Amino acid sequence: MRSIPDHPNLRTHEHPLIAHKMRILRDVDTSPQTFRRVLGEIAGLMTYEALRDLPTTTCTVKTPIAECPAVRLAAPITIVPILRAGLGMTDGILDLVPEARVGHIGVQRDEDTKRPVEYYEKLPPDISDGPVLVVDPMLATGGSGAHAVGYLKERGCRQIRFLCLVAAPEGVQHMSESHPEVPVHAAVLDERLDERAYIVPGLGDAGDRTFGTL
Ligand code: PRP
Ligand code: URA
Repeated sequence: MRSIPDHPNLRTHEHPLIAHKMRILRDVDTSPQTFRRVLGEIAGLMTYEALRDLPTTTCTVKTPIAECPAVRLAAPITIVPILRAGLGMTDGILDLVPEARVGHIGVQRDEDTKRPVEYYEKLPPDISDGPVLVVDPMLATGGSGAHAVGYLKERGCRQIRFLCLVAAPEGVQHMSESHPEVPVHAAVLDERLDERAYIVPGLGDAGDRTFGTL
């Protein structure tokens, strides 16, 4: 995991396996079937590092031989995928944290105004009791991510992390201005946005590539 001097809120994940899998995701010839699989795999690999500082409590466990000190996670974790594309990351994360709950927030970017439009929400009632991992493969203008995090903060969530695969500098900046206390984890920081607010070089429309709706 690496810190970027220009973006104190950003951590990039530069493991060779993640870089190798990012090449597959970026490739225009990758099928939706492979895209979905690899998206989940990268999300799982990143989660391992992004949750490194999860709070734990100490306890004891009785092995077949003797009692010994042990730890358990201090509070229930909630994964919050931003629909639709965030759904593609969820199973890969649940493989690692099967006890996590999953809350959903539906936010769609209006392609004319580039502003986020919310259309769905279903969260565990006690979501604010534990850490929350908001997931979306793309952080472009940052409008959707910042909107979802703002909504969760209104619901009382305080331990929020944001996990994406491709971040644009504009989106990282937007998150840092709106939610400076929220760490943003990205596999890669790309160059910029184009005139349609797509990330360059990016990987195209993550939702369409995940679900084959191109
Ligand atoms: C994509 C992506 C993010 C958002 C990023 O979703 O999955 O949610 O755009 O752009 P932003 O940072 O400029 O807000 P989209 O709105 O295309 O919806 P979809 O997942 O249903 O395809
Ligand atoms: N949403 C995507 O899916 N891709 C982008 O490059 C920007 C927004």
